Amino acid sequence: MKVLGIESSCDETSAAVVTDRGEVLSNVVSSQVEQHAPYGGVVPELAARAHLRAIIPVIERALLPLPNRLGEIDAIAFTQGPGLIGALLVGVQAAKAIAFARDIPMIGVDHLLGHLFAVFLRTPDADTDPPKLPFLALLVSGGHTALYEVRDIDKVTLLGQTRDDAAGEAYDKVAKMLGLGYPGGPVIDALSKKGDPRAVLLPRPMAKTPGLDFSFSGLKTAVAHVMRARGDAVNDQVRADVCASFQQAVTDVLIGKSRTALEQRGLHHWVITGGVAANSGLRAAAKIHAAEQGLQLFIPPLRFCTDNAAMIAYAGARLLAKGNLASASAAAFSRSNLGQPLGAACEAP
Ligand code: KG4
Ligand code: ZN
Repeated sequence: MKVLGIESSCDETSAAVVTDRGEVLSNVVSSQVEQHAPYGGVVPELAARAHLRAIIPVIERALLPLPNRLGEIDAIAFTQGPGLIGALLVGVQAAKAIAFARDIPMIGVDHLLGHLFAVFLRTPDADTDPPKLPFLALLVSGGHTALYEVRDIDKVTLLGQTRDDAAGEAYDKVAKMLGLGYPGGPVIDALSKKGDPRAVLLPRPMAKTPGLDFSFSGLKTAVAHVMRARGDAVNDQVRADVCASFQQAVTDVLIGKSRTALEQRGLHHWVITGGVAANSGLRAAAKIHAAEQGLQLFIPPLRFCTDNAAMIAYAGARLLAKGNLASASAAAFSRSNLGQPLGAACEAP
């Protein structure tokens, strides 16, 4: 079975064709980073317009490897939320139009569920063994930071999440503060290598608080105080030291909370996913922790960690196998209630 996936929740327009076994036949991603860079973050209205321009060419390119194009697609999965409503609507409407025209089933996918199952995607150059269910997933992206226990596609439990900024958002805001541009994660990651992670004393927010929630906005404020205190003395070395110290603080918290969750839930398979999973400090620390504790660590290839439609198509295929179909009136939603007890979220699909 082949599923066409469509992703348009934030600043990437993406379409992919994936089999129900997770083989990625195509995965086309059109990034809007350059359009948002001058503003230091994603501008929702610009994002929606860019999706509208990109969606049809991106879908057409994703279908190119199939001799019979749309004729070979058995189902359509689309990101239903969470995300920017104007951006989501473009993907939702495109999916509905194709499903209606071809008379094939469609599946609304929670974007976060896509990230959690991205670890099962396979390409000829990335076909290592996937984790065994159940596993602990640390999802760290620009919009979300959370820990989930994943037992199956329809059995996901939210264990903890950020109470304010996401880890990637903190990276982006600190980079903006240091004048390093957008997106901030890769730049801070690179600069960190030239700095001393012990040079600047920064807090490890909520590290000692019981429970599995995170908080990153205080860390960002602490960096702002450091920069203000240094005043005119900020040079390239100070910037590198601040980056390294900030990265160390974020990493310590993410590893510490993951460790607690793995122990509390008795889990031995550990997945790290989302854009921040690209971070070299986090990857190195996670590898060390996994080796010390005898855990199996799984991090999808970078192209499947950041936003992509292949993960949506695959999660869609698994949902479809459980009979989880979207109706023609399915609406986009801006906030996720993934893994929360029923009634806990304000908006639900
Ligand atoms: O998953 P993603 O592509 O989009 C969201 O769903 O948010 O994640 C993007 C986030 C951005 O905040 C970006 O700064 C961060 O991932 N990021 C990184 C690195 N590469 C991307 N953060 C830290 N280190 C990196 N190397
Ligand atoms: Zn994402």
